[in-house]
Amino acid sequence: MKRIKCSQILVVLALMAMSACRDVNKKAIISETAGTNMQTPMESTLQQTNFDTIIDGRAVKLYWLENKDLKMAITNYGGRIVALLTPDQDGNYVDVSIGYSSIKDYVDSDETYFGATIGRVGNRIAKGKFSLDGTEYSVVPNNNENALHGGENGFQDKVWDAEQPDTKTLILRYTSPDMEEGFPGNLTVKVTYSLTDNRAVRMEYEATTDKATVVNLTNHTYFNLNGEGSGSILNHSLQLYADQFTPVDQGLIPTGELKNVKGTPFDFKDFNTIGSRIDEEDRQLAFGGGYDHNFVLNGTKSNGMNHAATVVGDLSGIVMDVYTQEPGIQFYCGNFMASENTLKSGAKDDYRTAFCLETQHFPDSPNQQDFPSITLRPGEVYHTASEYKFSFR
Ligand code: GAL
Repeated sequence: MKRIKCSQILVVLALMAMSACRDVNKKAIISETAGTNMQTPMESTLQQTNFDTIIDGRAVKLYWLENKDLKMAITNYGGRIVALLTPDQDGNYVDVSIGYSSIKDYVDSDETYFGATIGRVGNRIAKGKFSLDGTEYSVVPNNNENALHGGENGFQDKVWDAEQPDTKTLILRYTSPDMEEGFPGNLTVKVTYSLTDNRAVRMEYEATTDKATVVNLTNHTYFNLNGEGSGSILNHSLQLYADQFTPVDQGLIPTGELKNVKGTPFDFKDFNTIGSRIDEEDRQLAFGGGYDHNFVLNGTKSNGMNHAATVVGDLSGIVMDVYTQEPGIQFYCGNFMASENTLKSGAKDDYRTAFCLETQHFPDSPNQQDFPSITLRPGEVYHTASEYKFSFR
């Protein structure tokens, strides 16, 4: 990988200054730091002071992880990735994750999931209700009549305890109290983010409980492999190693069926651009407003994990491979993005300018007997891992 030269930084900074950046203060911060260090523009933009705060009496900070290939900024508010920098073919760092430039924006914004750790149960639970060992539980509905991503105040709103054992690892811990958001059991959760030697971001999850409960943890990073704020993701190419997906009803609750993707716009077994069939007349696309579906992974093994997806940024040539120990992946292509929030690059979060690939057990698992179970009992250890690996072509 080539190192970034100061002259390259100045060119990028000049281009940024010419662009329609709405945040004048941010531009000032960038130009002040020009030429004074070897930071990427994004590192210069993210001011530590905008992340140092106290929420619920607990300290919030921004942590940088770095190895020879990747740089990643994470805040312990929601255990979320704020920036993820990977080199393109020319060795220039590109920030491929969507985020905000301050904790205030994360707290105030109506889109609370950018980059976040999602729990206790990722995706939807129909009507927020489920039964476990004969007892019915209710999670407060926060997505029409359904519960989404762990209810109203899911793990994305929690301050996690953080420990950085070395420059490329961050360990986050949170104990979710019994009946938090309506879920039974004190759940002790540990999430380890690390940068691996083969250019991957690794996310490892562990959890234990003192009462039977349900757990389905994931990460909700929104990616744009051409770089945050660089427009539509519809020309990104996508391959999903999945012969089946789980069709949904109008409320995006799975019907329980596993449907073969063959002959449908959901067939990404070979590379296809995300946008090539997104406007086809298709009931499932209509329900999702585009792609917003769980794919059933074939279990194509690579390093002991399922190879889930490969995505290529059309303008950058940046490639992302997703590997996971989970049986499914939610492919969501930013259908609810509505230009309502200003991102750290100064751009708005425009419609379909980012996509998510959330590794997971299937949505509404507590109510679907034929889906792999997400029940965790006392004495058991929930353990899962996923990797997002970067290269270029
Ligand atoms: C996804 C979900 C979408 C949407 C998004 C957050 O995981 O499938 O329907 O809710 O999160 O905006």
